[in-house]
Amino acid sequence: MPDRQYNLTVLISGNGSNLQALIDACASGALPNTRITHVISNRIKAYGLERAAKASIPTTYHNLKSYKDKHPNALDTAREEYDAELAKIILEGQHPRPDLIVCAGWMHIVTPSFLSPIAAAGIKIINLHPALPGEFAGAHAIDRAWKAGQEEELKRTGVMIHEVIAEVDAGDAIVTQEVELREGESLDALEERIHAVEHGLIVEGARRVLEGLGKK
Ligand code: GRF
Repeated sequence: MPDRQYNLTVLISGNGSNLQALIDACASGALPNTRITHVISNRIKAYGLERAAKASIPTTYHNLKSYKDKHPNALDTAREEYDAELAKIILEGQHPRPDLIVCAGWMHIVTPSFLSPIAAAGIKIINLHPALPGEFAGAHAIDRAWKAGQEEELKRTGVMIHEVIAEVDAGDAIVTQEVELREGESLDALEERIHAVEHGLIVEGARRVLEGLGKK
């Protein structure tokens, strides 16, 4: 029997360096029998879209603005419709249904309108967050950790890959890695060290989840 093939859908918003780590891991076999079959971005200028195109991976730009324009006085409705459509794109679109969805620098807080249909389809969602469980949830986590290291004697921060739930950056951790904070280090230098950890951890997190699927 040939080894089972795994399909990943990757959600991005920016540079896509973590997407690139996943692309490279599929090519090198670090993620065995795995391919990225769809990349979705909520920002049209995301360089990650170019990275996907270079790797011949189909891409979709899913634009929140058109939903906000349709519901100018009801942001919640706009977000719910956006999220429901995002789930439909993934579950009913022309791309293979994923075994796993990876949020890789995805800067959009998903609601149950997305989470429920994906859970009903039995598909896990994992997210990269550049902090440790229970610390610096939300945006600018690296910046906030750096400031805490400079001002409040915090000795370390870290990176985690966690399961996505409705609460932001709060799902069960799949894998974490601590990153020491160095006195006097610049924010840029810390960011560089953290991104290097991210690129390894996002592959390890995906590998662990897919390995778990393979055992079912
Ligand atoms: C990561 O720290 C991610 O959490 C944040 O941007 C950084 C890199 O994202 N959103 P990317 O994978 O290079 O787009």
